[in-house]
Amino acid sequence: MASPDSPHSMKKLLSFFLSTLFLTIVNSETHCRNFKSIISFGDSIADTGNLIGLSDPDDLPAAAFPPYGETFFHHPTGRFSNGRLIIDFIAEFLGLPFVPPFYGSQNASFEKGVNFAVGGATALERSFLVERGINFSYTNISLGVQLKSFKDALPSLCGSPSDCRDMIENALILMGEIGGNDYNYPLVLGKPIQEIRELVPLVVTTISSAITELISMGGKTFLVPGQFPLGCSTTYLQSYKTSNTEDYDSTGCLKWLNEFGKYQGDQLQVELNKLQKLYPHVNIIYADYYNILLRFVQEPAKYGFLSRPSPLPPCCGSGGSYSSIFGRSFGLKGLKCCNDPSKYVHWDSAHMTEAAYRLMAEGVLKGPYAIPPFDWSCLNPEIKNSGSSDTEHSLM
Ligand SMILES: *[C@@H]1O[C@H](CO)[C@@H](O)[C@H](O)[C@H]1NC(C)=O
Ligand SMILES: *[C@@H]1O[C@H](CO)[C@@H](O)[C@H](O)[C@H]1NC(C)=O
Ligand SMILES: *[C@@H]1O[C@H](CO)[C@@H](O)[C@H](O)[C@H]1NC(C)=O
Repeated sequence: MASPDSPHSMKKLLSFFLSTLFLTIVNSETHCRNFKSIISFGDSIADTGNLIGLSDPDDLPAAAFPPYGETFFHHPTGRFSNGRLIIDFIAEFLGLPFVPPFYGSQNASFEKGVNFAVGGATALERSFLVERGINFSYTNISLGVQLKSFKDALPSLCGSPSDCRDMIENALILMGEIGGNDYNYPLVLGKPIQEIRELVPLVVTTISSAITELISMGGKTFLVPGQFPLGCSTTYLQSYKTSNTEDYDSTGCLKWLNEFGKYQGDQLQVELNKLQKLYPHVNIIYADYYNILLRFVQEPAKYGFLSRPSPLPPCCGSGGSYSSIFGRSFGLKGLKCCNDPSKYVHWDSAHMTEAAYRLMAEGVLKGPYAIPPFDWSCLNPEIKNSGSSDTEHSLM
């Protein structure tokens, strides 16, 4: 019988280590992909024009009017910001065109990307939320509806089933941010937080099912963002204002709301870890929007933002109500905006500026806010290093 330290068992041990090493290398190599397109689902954080495309021309959303779009596009595009969104910076980084909106588009080419994200969209079906007393009128294009639109459009997007599988396999699939509005609407309606917490597992399951379905269609790489620190948002700092100083953390954010945001992010990560174990050949990456934004709020000056007043006001309409910026143009007239949006984290009371989105995209693509981090080892150095040359501040 061979003793544990015999040459034979040493050799076995060595070959075990070598094969583990080999497997690790092969594994990490398979996760680096030269993405050929971006397929996106979500809400206003990633909407590049869908809500406008779906809207009655007499009842357009805020993002159809100046000063939305003023900084980069120099006209409104339907993006809920002054310029580019995270999805735009991801497209730039990958050397792909900006992802065209699917809804209401005419003659758009979807070969290198298609975007189903709609401002105001929820993860859960509208009818389900209305049944629970959460009535809202912005849009009924929930995640399920977006996914159905994608499936219905496949023949025109990519032709044959094998071509479609190929397209989906080589795409970076942005799954969200989605779910924020499932919480925003009941929060605005003043529903008890306990009732809202009950929605979290349902939202997480809905996101998880959508990913599973896309995996069955060939999906290989998913970027799945969590929620923002809601307790730092202007909207809620106003509507849940209290004289109880205990309710606020050292940066002036509402503790109980941030705890909720963290809770939902944790639940999402647990579910994504489960999915990752079930589908080891797929790469599921969590984008930690919560902690990126928290850093801006905690140390704004470090990232080039104004640090006063505290809490940080949005560039536009610091006194604006949620409805005035979120859905329709109602209340937009007279919206006052700052002169230099690049110094602000928040654009309006529910969305970030281009400057903040740029840093967020960087923090996910190249920094520590993608879990696990992206592997760009197979790309040429030119691409890997792009995107930060014109950036003064960095999250890395
Ligand atoms: C779409 O393409 C058709 C045919 O090429 C053309 O007649 C039409 O003007 C185009 N529409 C838009 C909005 O560009
Ligand atoms: C929801 O709100 C709309 C108006 O915004 C109203 O017409 C509708 O009846 C409401 N539905 C329910 C179930 O309350
Ligand atoms: C969404 O609402 C519109 C207008 O009320 C309606 O025509 C459409 O059928 C709805 N779509 C879905 C998927 O529920």
